[in-house]
Amino acid sequence: MSHVIAIDGPAAAGKGTLSRRIAEEYGFHHLDTGLTYRATAKALLDAGLPLDDEAVAEKMAREVDLYGLDRSVLSAHSIGEAASKIAVMTAVRRALVEAQRAFSRKEPGTVLDGRDIGTVVCPDATVKLYVTASREVRAKRRYDEIVSGGGTADYAAIFEDVKKRDERDMGRVDSPLKPAADAHLLDTSEMSIEAAFRAAKTLIDAAL
Ligand code: C5P
Repeated sequence: MSHVIAIDGPAAAGKGTLSRRIAEEYGFHHLDTGLTYRATAKALLDAGLPLDDEAVAEKMAREVDLYGLDRSVLSAHSIGEAASKIAVMTAVRRALVEAQRAFSRKEPGTVLDGRDIGTVVCPDATVKLYVTASREVRAKRRYDEIVSGGGTADYAAIFEDVKKRDERDMGRVDSPLKPAADAHLLDTSEMSIEAAFRAAKTLIDAAL
């Protein structure tokens, strides 16, 4: 059986960077499952379809190509917002989870990151990490990212946004964001990317 490394956590906790680093280190395939929700949301927005029609959204979810996901066309704030709205729908989640599970079986191993990987998508994952950081730190990281990219940002607005996203992701009935009982907690509030990677590697090496 191939190895699965499950990485969950709230928005802007640093899961993406960490997951890519880990996948590279172990030569595993990587899937950012947030992009599957974003791609579904973008397809609905582009087609001018409503975000609250479960049957329509499910149909779009079934058409998402897991191998054609590109964060650069899915990163818009409006797409993230729309993604978290359609992510509350059970039929959408069922369709995307099926595709994500199929991906997780690729050899020699996979890294999946998202909100419900350790709890729902891959409950038998080899290693589960729950990556988090304080809300202030996550908002500051997102702020710095925008500013260093030459954009302008409003810290207070970003903080409110992170809070709203947390509430929606943690408060939904189907597959709410929470650590799996057997997940290792990794709080990166006071850690550099490098330190977080080394901590994760120690945990993974012990389990493989
Ligand atoms: O991680 P990212 O911000 O790209 O995810 C966008 C949205 O997709 C999240 O706010 C969340 O609502 C949803 N999502 C989810 N389950 C996952 C990954 C993302 O519900 N496994």
